[in-house]
Amino acid sequence: MTGASGLLGSHVARLAIGRFDTLGLFQSFRPANIPGRLESLDLTDATAVRSRLDVFRPEFIVHCAALADADRAHREPDLARRVNVDATATLAHCARRLGAKMLFVSTDLIFDGRKGAPYIEDDPPCPLSLYGQTKLDAERIVRAVCDTWLIARTSLIVGPSPRGNRGVDEKLAAVLQQGRVVKLFVDEFRCPVVACDLAAAILELADSPHTGVFHLAGSERLSRYEIGMRIARRFGWPTATLEAASTRDVPINPPRPADLVLDSGKARSALKTQLRGLTEALESLSENSWAGRPPAC
Ligand SMILES: NC(=O)c1ccc[n+]([C@@H]2O[C@H](COP(=O)([O-])OP(=O)(O)OC[C@H]3O[C@@H](n4cnc5c(N)ncnc54)[C@H](OP(=O)(O)O)[C@@H]3O)[C@@H](O)[C@H]2O)c1
Repeated sequence: MTGASGLLGSHVARLAIGRFDTLGLFQSFRPANIPGRLESLDLTDATAVRSRLDVFRPEFIVHCAALADADRAHREPDLARRVNVDATATLAHCARRLGAKMLFVSTDLIFDGRKGAPYIEDDPPCPLSLYGQTKLDAERIVRAVCDTWLIARTSLIVGPSPRGNRGVDEKLAAVLQQGRVVKLFVDEFRCPVVACDLAAAILELADSPHTGVFHLAGSERLSRYEIGMRIARRFGWPTATLEAASTRDVPINPPRPADLVLDSGKARSALKTQLRGLTEALESLSENSWAGRPPAC
C-alpha cells in the first residue's frame, strides 16, 4: 500500500499489517507506531517502483499516496500531475502486469457541487480545481489500464495523522492553539468521514470480489462551521474564535464546490463496515484516540 505516512494511509497500514503480508510505502516521513514492513519509495521514480513491485508481487495495491493538499496542487501543478497522475499510471501498469487488483483512493472534488443532491457513482464529473482534475485524470487511467480495479471516492477526512497536521480536527486544534480567529463557512457542505472507518471500508473493499467505483463518505451532511463546532465542543476546546462566515464574503482560490455530498448507499449495501456520521463517530472516540493534541483552554 502507498501513503503509509499519510492521514488515511497510516490507518490503512495499521489495519492491513497483521491481516495481510503488507508492504507499506512512504516517501519522506517514516511513521512511528506502525509495526511491519515500511519502506521509502518515491512513486514518481517509475523504474524504482517497477523494480520493487516486481520483487514484492502484490495481490492488491491500495494507493492512498497523493499530493492531497488542493492549495499546494494549485501552486505546484507540475508536481501535482507527477504525483497524482503519472505515479498512479505507473502503479496501474504494474497492477496489470502482475495481475494485481488496484484500489485507487479518489476525491469528492472531481464534482463541482452544483447538482443540488447527493452524488452517485455514475454522475458526470466536473472538477473545479487542478487537484480535482488530477484525481479525475488518474481515475480514468486506472479504469483504462487495470483489469481489476476499484475507485474509492471520499470526502473530508477527520482523525489523527502521523505528522499531526492533516486531519480536519488536527488543523482546527492547531489554529485554536494559536488563538487565531477561524472563519468557517456556514454555506459549504461536506460529509466528513473518520479515518478509521474509511480505512476499514477500503480494506474490506480491496479484499472482496467487488470492483468499480464506490463512494465512501460519512453519513452526515454538515457545513464547515458545524464540523468545526462539533469537534471543538466534543473535546471542550474554546469556540470563541470560531466565526461563522459565508463563501460569498471570502474569496476562495482555488475554487471549491459549495455543496458536495457523496451518496454512499452502494457501499453501505455492499460492506459490513459502517461509515458513521461525524457526530456519532465523535461520541465513540476519546480525545487520546483522536487528535491527541487539544489546544490549551
Ligand atoms: N485528506 C482529505 O480530507 C481527503 C479528502 C478526499 C480524498 N482524499 C484522498 O485520500 C488519499 C489520502 O489523502 P491524505 O490526506 O491521507 O494524504 P496525506 O496525509 O497528505 O499523505 C500523502 C501521502 O502520500 C505520500 N506521497 C506524496 N508524494 C509521494 C511520492 N512522490 N512518492 C511516494 N509517496 C508520496 C506521502 O508520503 P510522505 O509523507 O512520506 O512524503 C504521504 O504518505 C489521497 O488520495 C487524497 O487525494 C483525501
